[in-house]
Amino acid sequence: MKPSLAHRLDFFRYGPSGRRFEFARKVAEAVRENPAPDSARYFDVGEFKSFEQFEIKYRQLAEELGHPGKIPAPGEMDFLHAMVDLDDVRYPGGIGSRDYFFLTALVSILAPRRVIEIGTLTGFSTAIIAAAIYRQHGAGLPPGRDGVTVETIDSHTHCSIDQTRPIGFEIPDLIPDLVSTVRVHTGRESDLVHEIASPGEFGLAFIDADHRHPWPLLDVLRLAPYLERGGWILLHDIQLGTYGQAERDAGKQLEGGTPYGAEWLFDRWPFRKIRSFHIGAIELPPRKDALIPFALTLMNEPFELTGKAANRIRRAIYQTFAGLV
Ligand SMILES: C[S@@+](CC[C@H](N)C(=O)[O-])C[C@H]1O[C@@H](n2cnc3c(N)ncnc32)[C@H](O)[C@@H]1O
Repeated sequence: MKPSLAHRLDFFRYGPSGRRFEFARKVAEAVRENPAPDSARYFDVGEFKSFEQFEIKYRQLAEELGHPGKIPAPGEMDFLHAMVDLDDVRYPGGIGSRDYFFLTALVSILAPRRVIEIGTLTGFSTAIIAAAIYRQHGAGLPPGRDGVTVETIDSHTHCSIDQTRPIGFEIPDLIPDLVSTVRVHTGRESDLVHEIASPGEFGLAFIDADHRHPWPLLDVLRLAPYLERGGWILLHDIQLGTYGQAERDAGKQLEGGTPYGAEWLFDRWPFRKIRSFHIGAIELPPRKDALIPFALTLMNEPFELTGKAANRIRRAIYQTFAGLV
């Protein structure tokens, strides 16, 4: 890809002050040197509809991820059974069982020591991740930074589903013994990552926050430098836009918006990826600067934010390039 004049001007305009020329040159180089791959591996593991399917699909995923023969850790299935038993009394807004089966399988197979999550709400998915990490590494092995294995960030301090409840309030109920392995950061966005981690520190990320394009892209670009080489990022709601449109076409009234941000990001991702119905995992390319031409292409899709918010996010995306070159 050859950077256009408009792109070059933007590289200059949004570059760090004092380093604008160098930044613009490096970013233009990254764009030229990283043509989109002709094809990349795409694996659709399908929906996790039952416990039987959990075991079958776990094996398939383990094979796909280069861990053939790996099986769920002791206690993993019991924990999932306990979570499914809660289904009738669950708070709204958290991921459903098909999605947390996939999330558990991925954490279990890849066995990262440190995971970062964007979009905490009650802390349901946070607890799922913390439990899966614990089952892989146990209490005896050296845990992550300060004993924390999951860093979770939410832009709010209280839950949209119940304003009297603080973000992450469910965590002590769901994983009482593992509360100290989770750190909840509220009132902040994904740019907090540079204050709480070192480059390459996380083995996995889960993004389930603002789905309006290009927020999920910005979250990926901000987290990428802090993920290990070839690390995976999970994206939730990768069919939300299409699903919402189909419902509206069928005459249904939907309360909230159904943005396309996560869907476009997953569909257009030119590197390796794995889908399981509404949730997907994307693998970072070996050269992180290869994300820059992809980001520029994806920014051609219409932003689902307008006015100052759109300008702010455009600038923030360009600023992430400094961490990728
Ligand atoms: C769908 S909920 C997360 C559900 C949670 N992952 C689960 O499955 O249990 C989305 C959360 O993202 C938060 N959020 C929205 N925009 C955000 C942003 N730009 N950065 C961080 N969090 C954001 C909201 O406050 C909300 O609590």
